[in-house]
Amino acid sequence: MTPNRPVVRPRRLRRTPVVRAMVAETTVAPRQLVLPAFVAEGATEPRPISSMPGVVQHTLDTLRATATEAAEAGLAGIMLFGVPERQDATGSGALAEDGILNVAIEAVRAEVGEDLLVMSDVCLDEFTDHGHCGLLAADGSVDNDATVDVYAEMAAMHAERGAHVVAPSGMMDGQVAVIRAELDARGHTDTVVMAYAAKYASAFYGPFREAVGSSLTGDRKAYQQDPANVRESLREVRLDVEQGADMVMVKPAMGYLDVIAETARTVDVPVAAYNVSGEYAMVEAAAAQGWIDRDRAITETLLSIRRAGADVVLTYWALEYAQRLHRA
Ligand code: PBG
Repeated sequence: MTPNRPVVRPRRLRRTPVVRAMVAETTVAPRQLVLPAFVAEGATEPRPISSMPGVVQHTLDTLRATATEAAEAGLAGIMLFGVPERQDATGSGALAEDGILNVAIEAVRAEVGEDLLVMSDVCLDEFTDHGHCGLLAADGSVDNDATVDVYAEMAAMHAERGAHVVAPSGMMDGQVAVIRAELDARGHTDTVVMAYAAKYASAFYGPFREAVGSSLTGDRKAYQQDPANVRESLREVRLDVEQGADMVMVKPAMGYLDVIAETARTVDVPVAAYNVSGEYAMVEAAAAQGWIDRDRAITETLLSIRRAGADVVLTYWALEYAQRLHRA
C-alpha cells in the first residue's frame, strides 16, 4: 500500500452542485432580508445617490411600488428613512404630522398590509441641521435624556401610522426603555422594538450621509461605539434586552462578524445585522471596475453575515437578491 493516500477525503462532499447544496450549513432566504429605503419629501422623480449606484431617494409613489415588489419577492421588511426638505436645530420634521417619514410609513403600510413588515428608523440625524442624532445641549454635546423623550414620541407616531417595527438607532442610553414605555402607554403593545444595540462609529456609513443629505461635520464618537471594542457591545446588547428590545442589531456587518457571532451566542432574542452603505459601495465600485464578480461577492457577503449568526440581514441588495433566488 502506498503511503500518503488519504482515507478521509472531504472533497467527496464538494464534488457536484447537488452534494454541495445538501451539506450547505447556511442559507440566505428572502424572509431573512430587509430592504432599507430612502424617501425624499417633495420629490417628483427618484433621485440617484452617486455614492450608492443603484440606490435612490424615492418619491412616495416609487417607494410604494418598491414596497409592493419587496412583498412579492417575499422579503421580511422594508426599513424606511425620511429625507426632509428642511432641517432645523431640533429636527422638528421628525415630529411633524405631515413629516415625510410619518407620511411614508402610512403610505407603505396602506400598500402592504401584513404582507411585509414596515420598519422605521427612529433617529434625528436626517432631520437636524447639525446632523447629530439628537438635541444639542448648550455645550454642543448631544443631550441624552432630552433626546430619548423625542425618540419616544417619534416611535409612538410611527406606530400610530402603522409601523410594525420601530428601530431606535441613535445610541442614546436608555432609549429602548423610554420607547417601550411610551408605546405601551399609547396602546401599541404589539409594536416590535428592534434596537440598534451595538452600533459603531464607522467610516462605512459614509455614503448614507449623502443618501439622507446629512449636514454632519465632525463625528459621532461620543455616542456610537469604538471599533476597538467587542465586550462593550455585549453590555449594550444586554442593556437593550433588559429594557425590552425584541430584537437586537449589530452594525456595520462585514468588519464586525465577530461582534455578530458573540452577540448571537450571548442573547436569547433574534439578532439582525446591517450591511451598511459603505459595504455596499465597496462591492459596487470594485464590480464596476471589473475587479470582482458582483453576484458572487453579494452572495458571499450575505452568507458571511448569516454564517456569523445573524438571523436577519438589512441590505441594499435585499430585493435584487430575492428576485435572483426566485429566478434560479
Ligand atoms: C441613523 C442611521 C445611520 C445609518 C442607519 N441609521 C447613520 C449613522 O448612524 O451615522 C447608516 C446606514 C448605512 O450606512 O447604510 N439614522
